[in-house]
Amino acid sequence: MKSGHFITIEGTEGMGKSTVMQAVQTYFQSNQRPLVLTREPGGTPLAESIRALLLANYEEEVSEHTELLLMFASRYQHAQTIIAPALKEGLNVLSDRYVDASYAYQGGGRNIPFKHIDALTQWIPNTLMPDLTLLLDAPVHVGLERIQSRGESDRIEQEKVSFFERVRAAYLARAKAEPNRFVVLDASQDKEAVAAQAVSAIQQWEEAQS
Ligand code: TMP
Repeated sequence: MKSGHFITIEGTEGMGKSTVMQAVQTYFQSNQRPLVLTREPGGTPLAESIRALLLANYEEEVSEHTELLLMFASRYQHAQTIIAPALKEGLNVLSDRYVDASYAYQGGGRNIPFKHIDALTQWIPNTLMPDLTLLLDAPVHVGLERIQSRGESDRIEQEKVSFFERVRAAYLARAKAEPNRFVVLDASQDKEAVAAQAVSAIQQWEEAQS
């Protein structure tokens, strides 16, 4: 029986996910509640190796289907090895991205029909789907300007603005379709304000559960 809560954080590039992750961790720590922090692609040694494959640059063209399957290969390993045991033990889990990112990036961004992503998602047990998803949302250019100062871009960060516009639209469409699971936060504010919004969204959601 699942007892811990599974929270995910999503958004296009440069939305301040890392600051939110830290703030949520501090919030749980201050309440002496254990929280498992993890990320996708990645989260286990094998899944982190898949992440490196996904983000590296190649001379050959990377097929969108290869990209989707590698995302899910990383996800199954992560879900079985990290998320399932933690939730079973009653721990809360916070993941920097999860299934919604595949709908947004490979579905919206790469135009893979959503039915293909649905088919892969159906392999994941319902108990390993997020209870709450915080979507950090702001105009794409805001995030891209922020990441420009970080130095070299990975393969996905090098995509065009129009790609990220499609990613953002797909995220917003998912949030609209599942209003009970998603909370959309305004990520155009400074990082600390976004993190504070995220913590208060989690507090409110937890109060509503009890
Ligand atoms: P990060 O920069 O948030 O760590 O994520 C790495 C990149 O992987 C980011 O550009 C989003 C992308 N991604 C997908 O395209 N599909 C997915 O399913 C996931 C989890 C991430």
